Parts: sequence; structure tokens; C-alpha cells
Amino acid sequence: MRRAAIITASDSGYRGEREDLSGPAAKELLQKAGYEVTEEILLPDDREQLGHSMAQIADEDRAELIVTTGGTGFSPRDCTPEATEDICERRVPGIPEAMRAYSMQFTGRAMLSRQAAGIRKKTLIVNLPGSPKAVRECLEYILPQLEHGIDILRGDASNCARK
Ligand code: MTE
Repeated sequence: MRRAAIITASDSGYRGEREDLSGPAAKELLQKAGYEVTEEILLPDDREQLGHSMAQIADEDRAELIVTTGGTGFSPRDCTPEATEDICERRVPGIPEAMRAYSMQFTGRAMLSRQAAGIRKKTLIVNLPGSPKAVRECLEYILPQLEHGIDILRGDASNCARK
């Protein structure tokens, strides 16, 4: 069973001023897709802390997939994409491109998400926007495709020929 870790980036959530509904939304969809959700982490919109948390999970091989939610917009403190690219060894631009393109059918504001994705060691990291609605819309679209990528990353698939 593939393991997934969820990191919610939210100053107000971290201060206890706002309930994190996006982390649980991601958990529900990940479990439905067959992932074991091993960690649910709530952090402030702090580039160092976010990057360190993602890197530690990857370096300790604690999850095949890290999903972050929040901090992908224009707010001055939004820094999740920067934290992700700080610590990833290889970028995966196709995943955020696909999410933004798919999301435009729901809201033109999907173009305002600076979400990113990348690989560190054998862990795939994917940023999602902060709303539970965006989390559901994006995960429903990408989860079926991530399986093949993670299989290749983990050496469980060697080529792309469809079965
Ligand atoms: N993507 C989807 N699928 N659905 C959404 O509702 N919200 C957009 C965008 N992407 C949205 C979406 C909006 S309104 C913003 S401001 C950006 O995500 C950034 O959101 P964040 O700052 O919560 O990360």
C-alpha cells in the first residue's frame, strides 16, 4: 500500500484560529484511492519549516507521496511552491499544469495558483490550493495518473507501455 503524508500550510490554522478542512478532504480522497495516510502535519506559511518537513519525510522515506494544501496564491506569506522547489531534486511541471488547466472549468481563478510539484529521492511532492473544494477537484483529477509515476519512481514499473 502506498503511503501519503499531508502537509497543510496555514498561519491561521497553525494558530488555531481556523479549522483545517482541507487536510481532512485530502485524507478522504487519498484513502479512497488506496493510500495509507501516515502523517497529517499543520504548519505556518513558513518557507523554512515547510521545506524542512517535506525534505525530512522524503529523506526518511516515510511516504511515496506528499500532498500539501494552501499557500499557493498571491498572499505575501504564500510560499509553498517556493518551499517545494527549494527541496526538490527534480521538478514535475506537468502535474501543476494539468491541475490548473483542468481547474479552469470550475474557476478562472485557477490560474492564480502558483502550485508546484517535484521529486526528492523517491518521494513525489504535489502542492494543492488551500480550499477543500480545490483539494477535491485537483486530487480527483491527478490521483489516477500519479500511480504510474510513483511506480516508476519506486522501480515497480519500468516502461510506459500500457498493460
Ligand atoms: N483550483 C481549483 N480546482 N478550485 C478552486 O476553487 N481556487 C483558486 C486557485 N485554484 C481554486 C483553484 C483561487 S481562488 C486561488 S486564490 C488559488 O487557487 C490559490 O489558492 P491558495 O492561496 O489557497 O493556495
